[in-house]
Amino acid sequence: MKADLIVHNAQIVSCASRGKPLKGKEMADAGVIKDGAVAVDAGRIVAIGASAQILREFDAAETIDAGESVVSPGFVECHTHIVFGGDRLNEFELKIKGADYLEILRSGGGILSTVRQTRAASRESLVGQAWRRLDKMVALGVTTCEIKTGYGLNEETEFKMLDVIAELDASHPLDIVPTFLAAHAVPKDDYRAGDPTLSDEAIGDLYTDTVCRSMIPRLVGWRDAKGFDGRPMFVDVFCENGAFTLAQSRRVLETARASGLGIKAHVDEFKNLGGSRMCIELGATSIDHLDAISDEEIVLLAGSPTIGVVTPTVNFNLGSCDFAPARKLIDAGCAIALSTDYNPGSAPCPSLPNAMAIACRYQKMLPSEAFVAATINAAFAIGLGTETGSLEPGKWADLIIFDTKDHREVAYEFGGNPVKTVYKRGNRVPI
Ligand code: NIG
Ligand code: FE
Repeated sequence: MKADLIVHNAQIVSCASRGKPLKGKEMADAGVIKDGAVAVDAGRIVAIGASAQILREFDAAETIDAGESVVSPGFVECHTHIVFGGDRLNEFELKIKGADYLEILRSGGGILSTVRQTRAASRESLVGQAWRRLDKMVALGVTTCEIKTGYGLNEETEFKMLDVIAELDASHPLDIVPTFLAAHAVPKDDYRAGDPTLSDEAIGDLYTDTVCRSMIPRLVGWRDAKGFDGRPMFVDVFCENGAFTLAQSRRVLETARASGLGIKAHVDEFKNLGGSRMCIELGATSIDHLDAISDEEIVLLAGSPTIGVVTPTVNFNLGSCDFAPARKLIDAGCAIALSTDYNPGSAPCPSLPNAMAIACRYQKMLPSEAFVAATINAAFAIGLGTETGSLEPGKWADLIIFDTKDHREVAYEFGGNPVKTVYKRGNRVPI
């Protein structure tokens, strides 16, 4: 049979899952094949198996001897905030001197400081800056990336951010999934300018009203006009003290769900407000962070199709050891995905290999579980589990060839870049 490409003589880490996320104990099996090969045609994987067999069965235009190196699916980055203007370098120093992340937000900094810088930035400059961040991620093995809005907090800039995301999707080799996070923080100053007597909670209710009555309906039109209908797209909310209450979060997610949009949420990053339980009941595709998830909610998550996304780079960046209990979540039978949460405040980190390294050491995930969490389960966390995230026939030919012969080394050595070559839908991406 004809093929465009064969990569052989590899330690294949297939992360094969037969059409569903890997849960609990299943996560320890990353589908390692010694002396394996993968055949690619027309941008899709057509076969995977022993090198000798694939080389016998296929006649390929290009054949690559991996020299026993590890070959895995491209990483799927399922949670990022990479469209933003400016930086948070002052805040970095404030945090070193002891300032607290939510305290900085309450006093008008943090996310709100990035909002001011993003409102002031042109669409072109936002595209250029995010493009460079995508390039850094590709060089570290990412082939599919979710990107959230959430630094506009008004209609004009939230939709400017969406347009930036659509432009990146159309022009960058990566596949991109947009998530609408207008409910990321409450734009208190915008409302207080009109009425200085308004309480924080009242402003939160007013802004939630705008998100639900005006922005989400407009989002549905935007999706159809920009060709995202039939593709995964999500609405997200930051359910946290100082951001959105449980009731406000429920309103945003129920409105989105009723409009036919996928839903996910930032829950339990610092304080448990009951967001995980609510999101599981609402059928969220993923719940993200989970540092403060309760034992009862862990049982609910294990019994649901929702993916739990952990982001240990946030704890690392905030100098905190209150990591999400990934070991407990996996032992309870949950499907766990891993993300960097790449953003200017809580995690300025483009490296999923680094997130894997932290997850293994501090959350006691095995290297094989970290691979599954950064590939197939992450793909399911953004609605693309049947298209990418594993090396299985029919899937996009998104692959990484590593500079190592043992998959455990990807999480073992940290701070460098274990990635040698990246293919996106069968095409080599220059890195
Ligand atoms: O996932 N928690 C809310 N959002 C991001 C942080 C964004 C920021 O600090 O700019 C997070 O941690
Ligand atoms: Fe986030």
